Amino acid sequence: MLKPMDTQYGFIGNRSHDPYVAGRDTLSKEEQDGECIFETVGEVTSPDPIISVRNCNVFYGDNQAINNVTLDVGRNEVISLIGPSGCGKSTFIRCLNRMNDTIEGARVEGDIRLDGEPIYAKEVDPVLLRARVGMVFQKPNPFPKSVYENVAYGARIHGLARSRAELDEIVFSSLERAGLYAEVKSRMDEPGTSLSGGQQQRLCIARTIAVNPEVILMDEPCSALDPIATAKIEDLIEELRQNFSIAIVTHSMQQAARVSQRTAYFHMGQLVEVGATDTVFTNPIHRLTEDYVTGRIG
Ligand SMILES: Nc1ncnc2c1ncn2[C@@H]1O[C@H](COP(=O)(O)OP(=O)(O)OP(=O)(O)O)[C@@H](O)[C@H]1O
Ligand SMILES: [Mg+2]
Repeated sequence: MLKPMDTQYGFIGNRSHDPYVAGRDTLSKEEQDGECIFETVGEVTSPDPIISVRNCNVFYGDNQAINNVTLDVGRNEVISLIGPSGCGKSTFIRCLNRMNDTIEGARVEGDIRLDGEPIYAKEVDPVLLRARVGMVFQKPNPFPKSVYENVAYGARIHGLARSRAELDEIVFSSLERAGLYAEVKSRMDEPGTSLSGGQQQRLCIARTIAVNPEVILMDEPCSALDPIATAKIEDLIEELRQNFSIAIVTHSMQQAARVSQRTAYFHMGQLVEVGATDTVFTNPIHRLTEDYVTGRIG
């Protein structure tokens, strides 16, 4: 049973009295089991949001996977979503481009906006939305097509090129921005699946950016990659931030620290804490965040 808690985090000078504040000795069983409702600590809003989520709840059948989450993704920011396995990171990120629509039994509630427009409005076409809010998955998933066609596909179905020359320009520049062009320029006609895992993931990123999205969602994009391929993707994320906004789910706190400006910590479907990445890792407010970042849970 979920129990409402009306804790205010006026913790300065009051740390030892606040049951959830970092530094306290013990957590009750209910707190550990997520049976308490927490008020998110930290700054959930952004001064310049590209995505704003208000009071989001997600259910799979009768099971609630996301509980009253409010969070902004800022323009040109990278925000990391972290938390123990099963806490709802993938479920949450999938709300942002309506990927949960494709999951039978999933129900999303709340107000979610892209640049001020509600993305769950009846008139919104999820296919067009997903061009504006692209997604890169854990396992690289190139289409069973050539390298060239993998990147050209979206541009073609969205009518972004009027000629072969324009399509070439989109494909080559997307591959270039994804840091892959030099490695594949003589392999354009080979199957996308013939590339290495790290190259395939950059191909998927090229495919995503080819349709000029505003936001890129990444769900553990490096977890199937070796450290060298991972470093390439992380460098790329930093570059992509100039033009896009990125929300990335990661299990690697080092990665979150390297690539993101803000970090959101989820626990049992709730957003416990969000703030500047270095603050969340070095000086978290909430005891649950502290436990996770210091390796006591998760
Ligand atoms: N398709 C689904 N049908 C039913 N329940 C689901 C589905 N996907 C996820 N869930 C449940 O929702 C909760 C959140 O899962 P989710 O995959 O979002 O967690 P996560 O934080 O991404 O975990 P991980 O780090 O392991 O990827 C879990 O209890 C999970 O079992
Ligand atoms: Mg997940």
